[in-house]
Amino acid sequence: MSIPLSIQWTDQQLVILDQQKLPHIIEYIELNTIEDVYDAILKLKVRGAPAIGITAAYGLAIAAQRHEPESLEAFHHYVRKDASYLAESRPTAVNLVWALERLLAAVQQAKTVEEAKALLIDEAVKIHQEDEESCRSIGDYALSLLEGQTRVMTICNAGSIATAKYGTALAPFHLGSERGKTFEVFACETRPVFQGSRLTVWELQQSGVDVTLITDSMAAHTIGAKEIEAIIVGADRIAANGDTANKIGTLNLALLAAAYQIPFYVAAPVSTFDLSIENGKNITIEERHPDEITHIGGEPIAPIGTKVFNPAFDVTPGHLITAIITEKGVILPEYDKNISSLLGAHTGK
Ligand code: MRU
Repeated sequence: MSIPLSIQWTDQQLVILDQQKLPHIIEYIELNTIEDVYDAILKLKVRGAPAIGITAAYGLAIAAQRHEPESLEAFHHYVRKDASYLAESRPTAVNLVWALERLLAAVQQAKTVEEAKALLIDEAVKIHQEDEESCRSIGDYALSLLEGQTRVMTICNAGSIATAKYGTALAPFHLGSERGKTFEVFACETRPVFQGSRLTVWELQQSGVDVTLITDSMAAHTIGAKEIEAIIVGADRIAANGDTANKIGTLNLALLAAAYQIPFYVAAPVSTFDLSIENGKNITIEERHPDEITHIGGEPIAPIGTKVFNPAFDVTPGHLITAIITEKGVILPEYDKNISSLLGAHTGK
């Protein structure tokens, strides 16, 4: 039993687990160019807010190694251009822009082009390593909150393969498994892109966690029938007032948690907060290709030409969230005050 990893950086080579092929094909692919990285993020070969940030950071560093500019100034220009290109790959997870901006800030210290190239790689590696530490810490805090609870529901995949290791919402299950605390996890997101069935179920099975798959429409019934005691989810962007964007269907679960009066936890690193955004109304929600809804495995399941609305994320208002679990500690309502006091200057963007 082991916790799966999705991003590897060895001997200056970026390798990712192709998550589009899971759960039946375990294939690792090399990303050699900025276009490879853009394409991998766009096509969900690598996904999950922190993993997108880490991969984009490596992508920017890889692209920079190829530039042979006439001056340091010209180099900065190319790197900024590359960062803007990568930032366009997916719009909702703020970790993407956060990671790219961290590299752009780090590279300012360089005195030569060679130094700048090395700094970019160092900073990407740092982001990767720090994310693993953050997720471990989130897992510790989440384990304390879930001390008296065993049956927990989650949605999508906010797991090890969505981060450097451990995950956010799934971190307490992995750490619990290492420490002898058993959970019964109920996993959703069977549409539009099967992140629960293909990814979370696979990941938790790999590390020996008890996991049961349900379809999203079964959540309300299952909370009652299986006496679910808490819901824990990840996040793609958290506004200053606690409003949280996460995989489509998260809002449904938050409303159900309120109706059943069970806790609804959001688990996310500091890099997922965007204090430049006052509330969730200003979060850009990615809309994806209609084929994700009209087709399964390439086969049409709706009349050809059917009109489709396919938002990839929704926004859960802060008032439905019992607590936000970060690597720096647990944030309780009132979020507009408590988020900024815990995070200080550390914000996603
Ligand atoms: O479309 P995805 O798979 O990138 O969506 C992922 C999620 O919504 C996750 O819950 C979120 O990014 C947090 S990952 C730790």
